[in-house]
Amino acid sequence: MALKRATGGAPAFTWKKMNRNDPCWCGSGKKYKACHESFDDRIIRCERQGMIVPKRESIKMPADIEGIKASARINVAALDAVAEKIRVGMSTGEIDRIVEETTRKMGGIPAPLNYEGFPKNCCTSINDQVCHGIPSEEDILKDGDIVNVDCSTIYNGYFSDSSRMFLLGDVSPEKKRLVEVTKECMEIGIQAVHPWEPLGNMGDAVHQHALKNGYSVVREIGGHGCGFSFHEEPFVSYVSKPGTEMLMVPGFVFTIEPMINAGGEEIFVDDTNDWTVYTEDHSPSAQWEVEVVVTEDGCEVLSW
Ligand code: MF3
Ligand code: CO
Repeated sequence: MALKRATGGAPAFTWKKMNRNDPCWCGSGKKYKACHESFDDRIIRCERQGMIVPKRESIKMPADIEGIKASARINVAALDAVAEKIRVGMSTGEIDRIVEETTRKMGGIPAPLNYEGFPKNCCTSINDQVCHGIPSEEDILKDGDIVNVDCSTIYNGYFSDSSRMFLLGDVSPEKKRLVEVTKECMEIGIQAVHPWEPLGNMGDAVHQHALKNGYSVVREIGGHGCGFSFHEEPFVSYVSKPGTEMLMVPGFVFTIEPMINAGGEEIFVDDTNDWTVYTEDHSPSAQWEVEVVVTEDGCEVLSW
């Protein structure tokens, strides 16, 4: 006999309670009733009301958060090293070497290298490149360029992921404003993280700020859960509707990394390398990324 699925019978709930006197599933060593029982009660109630909830295995415990922070220290150092050295005339290949050297010196592994065949240690995306630009000795940063450098680190099994924009030389007011508003979008996303609310609220807050400024938001590429692996569930949209998407429960770790286009939202992937994403209309695009953990009263930024 086959079990009925969501379309007919009872939906398959993912959260189940434990015996109250057994050691808690989180590994704290405490009894369940003194540890995660009330958390579980709340999440089970939400799931039964039809909300999308994270899997128990994806929730990060305090020791995991410390692990991600240690990874993020390296990731932040790599981006700081880039910030210190980046200049007009430098190749993106040199940026890649700065990232690799800083990361390895501190005992980390650059997560992009060999990720689904990606050939370099970080992504460098210039002007109309939206994301996933491949560093190269041939690509020389010019006066007036804006570039996103996206770094991700593996350390002691934990993943961190963040990116920043850099302005080179004399940047046009239009591009400067795009970079500033995109940073505001990320900050508004951070402010919109509230425990026990759906992710769609955060995505909508980001979207509205971009629209208000006359920009568009990339739909097909977004953020992700992060920490135990590079890209975890769920896909995080920045064009989502309030009241939709996964519940942001304490211990849920994800990235806020909207890609904002000065022109239209349409994008395409370079078919010569299958990686670099461009705006269809070749208008400039910007992105900032942080990795956050949902807390009891908002979120904490783990990597920036
Ligand atoms: N760092 C990117 C992110 O923010 C992912 C890059 S995948 C790579 O999710 F393979 F291009 F590195
Ligand atoms: Co990311």
